[in-house]
Amino acid sequence: MGVSRRGVLLGGGMLGAVGALGLVSPAPAWTWAPAGSVVGTGSGVDPHTVWDPAADTVVQALFERDEVDLVNELLAGWTDNDQPLPAGLPTDLRDFLEQARQLPAWADGSKLSAFFPFYEKRGLYIAVLYGMGSGMMSCVIPREAKAVYYSAGGADMKDRIAKTAKLGYDIGVRDAFGPGGKMVVTCVKTRLTHAAVRHLLPASGHWRASAPESKPISQADIMVTWHSLATFTRNRLASWPLEVTTAESEAFLHVWQVTAHLLGVADEYIPATWDQANAQSRQVLDPILAPSKEGIALAHILVNMASDYDLGISRTMFQSFTRYVLGDQITDWLELPRQPVTDAMVERGWPPFVAFREGTMKLPLPPQGYWMFDEFLRQGALFFLGEGRPINITMPTANNPS
Ligand code: HEM
Repeated sequence: MGVSRRGVLLGGGMLGAVGALGLVSPAPAWTWAPAGSVVGTGSGVDPHTVWDPAADTVVQALFERDEVDLVNELLAGWTDNDQPLPAGLPTDLRDFLEQARQLPAWADGSKLSAFFPFYEKRGLYIAVLYGMGSGMMSCVIPREAKAVYYSAGGADMKDRIAKTAKLGYDIGVRDAFGPGGKMVVTCVKTRLTHAAVRHLLPASGHWRASAPESKPISQADIMVTWHSLATFTRNRLASWPLEVTTAESEAFLHVWQVTAHLLGVADEYIPATWDQANAQSRQVLDPILAPSKEGIALAHILVNMASDYDLGISRTMFQSFTRYVLGDQITDWLELPRQPVTDAMVERGWPPFVAFREGTMKLPLPPQGYWMFDEFLRQGALFFLGEGRPINITMPTANNPS
């Protein structure tokens, strides 16, 4: 389609912040207008200076009253969107959760339900892009890499990946945001976790010594990560040989718009269209991509984790997929070496594989062949989603000690 890999990856923008000397230039001033948002209006305040006051106040009070462990325990059994909150929660938290679990007025049920059939067909590609694209891209988002590395999850990356993969899984099931799903609860619990991180990380000497900001996970940071998931995946899918209808593309955007809202992002920062998303992504994501000591360490933990669990693929395959979906510059920043054999296999094998799968979807009985990529993902999902044990997102109560 005549778009360069870099353009596809970065919403048509330039990867310009890090020059030959590795110097990071400051992100440009925030000018993205609320007119481009889902609600078409807003204050226009720079989201780098906005966090999540409603969640932060409640969670701060939980820490002050020493109630975080109790709340984590009480919320462990709260998993489904239609489930009432458990008894015994502190009143301020209960009020917050009742409000936070509401879908926005602009949520469109028909678009939300249109996502599942799309995911059923294309979940394989989306999982590859979330895992080896967005997941690895988070390692070159310095603020995110530092927050993850120095928070409690940095000491147990398998647990952290399992919990993050839960969100990626819950968003893709039938009725994800409706009574039969779990995505609302997963997002709201994540919102509490982020508020706990905002409370805890500023007390970490390691984090303070390396992070430029005084408080982590601003609204701008959340949208940066949102683009690394949603906008990146949408753009990369568009570069592969598959036809995505406008309705499918809009459904994909919509599940992520609602997700952003449930994660506590103000509506005025949530893009209304993919064009608006790309414009915002060019402003907040492209210029800040850069290597960091923490990101490189995380990338190596992630790549080695795959080989530790013997997925039937080697670490080299993971690296080659990363290089394929994210390109040379980011993969080189992460100090993941070139793998001549598997790099070529993925680069040359993936487009025909996608084309083949797409072709078989049009057949009355799609063939059930053995496919390396399928197997890789099945094993990966088993690993990430963890041996049948329930995955529960909880508020951390401490930072990474190291
Ligand atoms: C925790 C998703 C943005 C840093 C989590 C968890 C999920 C999640 C599902 C729970 C998993 C866990 O507890 O380990 C998301 C999504 C985002 C987003 C979908 C945006 C769309 C961010 C950003 C940062 C961040 C921007 C930092 C700049 C963290 C940290 C934890 C966490 C430090 C806690 C890890 C711990 O338990 O110590 N996030 N996140 N997240 N997230 Fe995010």
